[in-house]
Amino acid sequence: MTSAAFDFAPLLPAGLPAPAARWTGLARYSFVGGNNDPDQVPVDGLIDAVNAVLRREGRTLATYGLASGPQGYRPLREFLTAKLKRDAGIGCTADDILIVSGSLQALDLVNQTLLARGDTVIVEQETYQGALTRLTRLGVNAVGIPLDHEGMRMDALASALADLKGRCIRPKYIYTIPTVQNPTGTIMPEARRAELLRLSESYGVPIFEDDCYADLIWAGQRPPAIHAMAKNGGVIHIGSFSKSIAPALRVGYIVAPWEMLSRMLALKTDAGSGALEQMVLAEYCAPHFASHVPKLTRGLRAKLDTLMEALNEHFGTSAEFEDTKGGIFLWVKLPDNVDTLKLYQSALAAGVAINPGPEWSTDKSYSRSRLRLCFASPSTEKIREGIAVLADVCRREFGVPVRIANVEKRA
Ligand SMILES: Cc1ncc(COP(=O)(O)O)c(C=O)c1O
Repeated sequence: MTSAAFDFAPLLPAGLPAPAARWTGLARYSFVGGNNDPDQVPVDGLIDAVNAVLRREGRTLATYGLASGPQGYRPLREFLTAKLKRDAGIGCTADDILIVSGSLQALDLVNQTLLARGDTVIVEQETYQGALTRLTRLGVNAVGIPLDHEGMRMDALASALADLKGRCIRPKYIYTIPTVQNPTGTIMPEARRAELLRLSESYGVPIFEDDCYADLIWAGQRPPAIHAMAKNGGVIHIGSFSKSIAPALRVGYIVAPWEMLSRMLALKTDAGSGALEQMVLAEYCAPHFASHVPKLTRGLRAKLDTLMEALNEHFGTSAEFEDTKGGIFLWVKLPDNVDTLKLYQSALAAGVAINPGPEWSTDKSYSRSRLRLCFASPSTEKIREGIAVLADVCRREFGVPVRIANVEKRA
């Protein structure tokens, strides 16, 4: 006798997000997500690190939070203290840092601490999809500020803040990815960071600084973090090991004043982020991080060159983009008649996964003909082949590019 499957549907509370789709594997040519280069994961170094740290301290795994308490493995926080000082100019102690399960958990904790349904926040007009979907789910109004080649435009921010103030709205934060912006790849110069701080202070709106790509800069050097330049403690800074070491480890961090950190700690109900990952990272990074990163960025830069060459070859002048200063993405503009949400569907059917622009922007019409391509994860061969297939699909669906690899195509 077979019994009917149990029906959970009547038990689900209102307001749940739509159910997730089942994973069906990576596309043959995958230019999506924030995945990294598999050949650049320092596997041998991580193996040595896991052996060394487990031999020495493995027994501390018997205790929630190891012997370090709820803010995360202390040697990792100490590594971060030194790294943040050296690279970003941030003067903080291990007590100012909370280790989290990827910086996505940082986004959730900051949002849970500060936001309520109906609130308003300010974001860059083109921004991280994971930030936008969270805000939508929370019922928070995200005001997008246009970007130029130096990141968020301060003239537009000033008028948005004045306009909101005129309507008695005090935004809860200004979310920015100032150091290798996602998806546009810009780096906000120091003078603009100072102007951003000035506006934040004069309107009493804190800055939420997401520095997740800050290690991946071709030139190596970066401007100081906004957190480092702030005098009043009004900046929450988050970062991640996802882009510099490996995203599947799920280790990120928050640097914030205790007033905020203590609230977030109270909301972090998972009894601590994965201990083994934190231990391995601390053991590996203290001696090796500084030499690993330049190797990683050299490889990423070479892949970006391959991608730009492939786009030039297969799309010609139909694909417009700016050579980025770092990161793992290229933000590409196609002719106005191309709808990248539709292109996404047809390209996927042909085995090419792309991120359509509207998912990364608060302005759906501006971003309609734009797309984001991640160049870190596919091999150089796959980059070349995938872009050739994408150009073919795009020409079939939208009539552009007219020429592919110097051969004129008949419509
Ligand atoms: C801007 C930005 N912030 C946060 C994240 C989340 O990264 P993770 O949770 O892996 O640290 C990403 C991932 O791609 C991102 O692009």
